[in-house]
Amino acid sequence: MTMTMTDTTDSGEPGTTAISSVPTVTVVVPTYHEVENLPHLVARLQLVRSAGAFELELILMDDDSRDGSAELVASLGAPWVRLVTRKVNRGLSYAVLDGLKLSTRDLLVVMDADLSHPPEKIPEMLAAVLNGADVAVGSRFAEGGTTADDWGLFRWLNSRVATLLAFPLTSVSDPMSGFFAMRRSTFMSGQDFNPVGYKILLELIIKCRSKLVVDVPIHFDNRRYGESKLSFREQLRYVQHLRRLYIYKYGTWSHLVQFLLVGVSGLAINLLALTALLAAGFPEKTAIAGAIVISMLWNFFLNRRFSFSYARERSIVKQFIGFVAACSIGAIVNYFTTVSLWNIIHYKQLAAIVGVLAGTFFNFAANRFVIFRIKHIKA
Ligand code: GDD
Ligand code: MN
Repeated sequence: MTMTMTDTTDSGEPGTTAISSVPTVTVVVPTYHEVENLPHLVARLQLVRSAGAFELELILMDDDSRDGSAELVASLGAPWVRLVTRKVNRGLSYAVLDGLKLSTRDLLVVMDADLSHPPEKIPEMLAAVLNGADVAVGSRFAEGGTTADDWGLFRWLNSRVATLLAFPLTSVSDPMSGFFAMRRSTFMSGQDFNPVGYKILLELIIKCRSKLVVDVPIHFDNRRYGESKLSFREQLRYVQHLRRLYIYKYGTWSHLVQFLLVGVSGLAINLLALTALLAAGFPEKTAIAGAIVISMLWNFFLNRRFSFSYARERSIVKQFIGFVAACSIGAIVNYFTTVSLWNIIHYKQLAAIVGVLAGTFFNFAANRFVIFRIKHIKA
């Protein structure tokens, strides 16, 4: 296969003259061991370029693959293709962020090197951005989008669950996508980037406070050469990343949700401990008290580690005393709320539920705003 990689911008083709007003685009592609895919990627992008609607450059952000990628790009002699070798702060997300920062153009596109993402869809995505979208996402799951047939149930399910977990952050149909476009000004408006793992699109949608996110259906192809770098460890990182984004977007509400999740897990621990202590032959009262102590300890440590992790460096002893006090007062709030509703509400269980809610709310407020309060002045 022969490829012509000459720069059409300089060859004076109609619509691509130096003073043309066509929008300028940087395509950022993170790469690691993709040398076999690069010629095909460049060839297909070249076709998009030569259509002339955009002035397009390609920046490959390579994490020092040492597989001949750099040499290959040099041998192409195509001025519109650049490869940047990265040696620090490795990883897909930072490779993308660094690449986006290098651009000086109007529009940005991010895609994978392995040809899973059809370059031919770029004009449609850019058109969406030029028509007002903050972000255009190449989506496998939008109406008309498809994935390669041999996607097993596991991969499909995995992807759907991951998407579902992100739903409260964004309703875009494929938030896991690594194929998207935005204006550079949108990217520049973003702050506090600190992605963990693979999901750079989610990070950009949240941190750039993108409102209008538009789907562009794509066919997601299997990679041609080499293998995926997405491991199980990446999936765990995804949960960590989600947590950060929830805290960023929802602040105290996200602390409340974590506190409630911890509470539910504490209930399960209480029941397990009670069952175990009874089975071990402890007297009933000891078992009940023991289960309460165990679940309280469990809740304390989980809340300190997750719900209020920002206060972790402060005195654990003081926090524990505060936690026990808040739980006890919460129980009293629960008691008096239930008692005072007892004769007003017909269904006694409903009175008890309101009591639990009031106690829990008190408990949360005391923990969040007193015991694990956020200190604004850092020592
Ligand atoms: N610079 C750099 N550093 N690039 C990396 C690294 C890294 O550590 N790890 C992966 N890449 C590059 C790959 O070379 C490829 O171009 C792109 O990032 C995606 O990596 P793949 O290994 O092909 O990932 P995938 O196909 O499993 O995941 C893709 O699809 C997912 C949805 O199924 C990615 O687009 C994900 O972002 C996406 O969620
Ligand atoms: Mn891939």
